[in-house]
Amino acid sequence: MGYAIVAPAPGGPEVLKRVPFTPPAPGAGEVLVRHTAIGVNFIDVYFRSGLYPWPVERDLILGSEAAGVVEAVGPEVAGFAPGQRVAYTLPNFAYATHRVVPAAHLVHLPESVSDLQAAAAMLKGLTACYLLHDSYAVQEGQTVLFHAAAGGVGLIAGQWLKAKGVRAIGTAGGPEKVALARAHGYAEVIDYRSEDFVARVKELTGGEGVHAAYDSVGRDTILGSAEVLRSFGTLVSFGQSSGPPDQFRISHLARASLRLTRPMLFHYTARRDWLEQAAAALFEMIGSGAIRLDITEMPLAEAAAAHAALEGRRTTGSLVLRP
Ligand SMILES: NC(=O)c1ccc[n+]([C@@H]2O[C@H](COP(=O)([O-])OP(=O)(O)OC[C@H]3O[C@@H](n4cnc5c(N)ncnc54)[C@H](OP(=O)(O)O)[C@@H]3O)[C@@H](O)[C@H]2O)c1
Repeated sequence: MGYAIVAPAPGGPEVLKRVPFTPPAPGAGEVLVRHTAIGVNFIDVYFRSGLYPWPVERDLILGSEAAGVVEAVGPEVAGFAPGQRVAYTLPNFAYATHRVVPAAHLVHLPESVSDLQAAAAMLKGLTACYLLHDSYAVQEGQTVLFHAAAGGVGLIAGQWLKAKGVRAIGTAGGPEKVALARAHGYAEVIDYRSEDFVARVKELTGGEGVHAAYDSVGRDTILGSAEVLRSFGTLVSFGQSSGPPDQFRISHLARASLRLTRPMLFHYTARRDWLEQAAAALFEMIGSGAIRLDITEMPLAEAAAAHAALEGRRTTGSLVLRP
């Protein structure tokens, strides 16, 4: 029998507990996957803490990103067979030894990408992919600001931006994170715990500002992010690790005819053609070595410690749980 990590109700990391778990048989269009590696993401914290609406009646199995091996396929599934290596990103139910996944959300893993890498990058890397190509399509020679540059999404984005010839200015908390972000594509990294990032970005851009600001920190940074944009610049608000950016008002966009977008990865991955193309692009970047993943592995049973570290700003890169 397998096991899962569940949150019986919203709360801190301590609510997470291990329970026996037997997955159901896959139904029509579904595939049973035995997980080998499961990614940890900030969205797991939003669900566990109750910031996002509780999606089930009772026990919630968290986790939105994993890789593994196909164990069984249900009726009406084409293109997947037992023994194949696969990965997916979907909201919740991944912190378990097994999961039944709709085939429409699964992708095959090439030999050049390990299960560990896939679990570290399906959610975070596909997010970086849409941020740089869809939310604001960066162009060679442009300058952008990316907050939490040493985090899971941040380290992938820095390398992808560099590969596209974009000058990326990152922010990170503390000298070690600053050094790590510098080693992952960022041309400049500001320690926003000790330095005013608004003044520094203006200085680094000769007073002109950046073409786009990617803000996942939210409450603590959103107004500054809007302030460092050049005229007609784009503010991409895609997260809230410091709390919801509720103090932001539409009138803040009037300073320089700014654009604002608030995207969610799962709207992109719901489109099969986008998922296939973006996953192929991401796997090419990882397989070729253009994107190196900074991965910390932990046992699945220690999910609570992983959550405490992520919320406590003590992690860098991607956290991956091993069942
Ligand atoms: N909308 C979407 O589609 C989408 C998809 C994926 C991820 N996201 C968002 O992207 C962000 C990054 O996700 P991730 O999983 O890769 O996490 P992460 O960046 O590895 O971790 C979050 C980082 O945010 C920074 N931070 C700033 N203030 C914080 C605070 N008060 N509490 C905790 N952390 C704080 C910390 O870095 P420093 O110590 O360097 O400040 C921390 O390491 C999250 O906000 C997540 O919700 C959004």
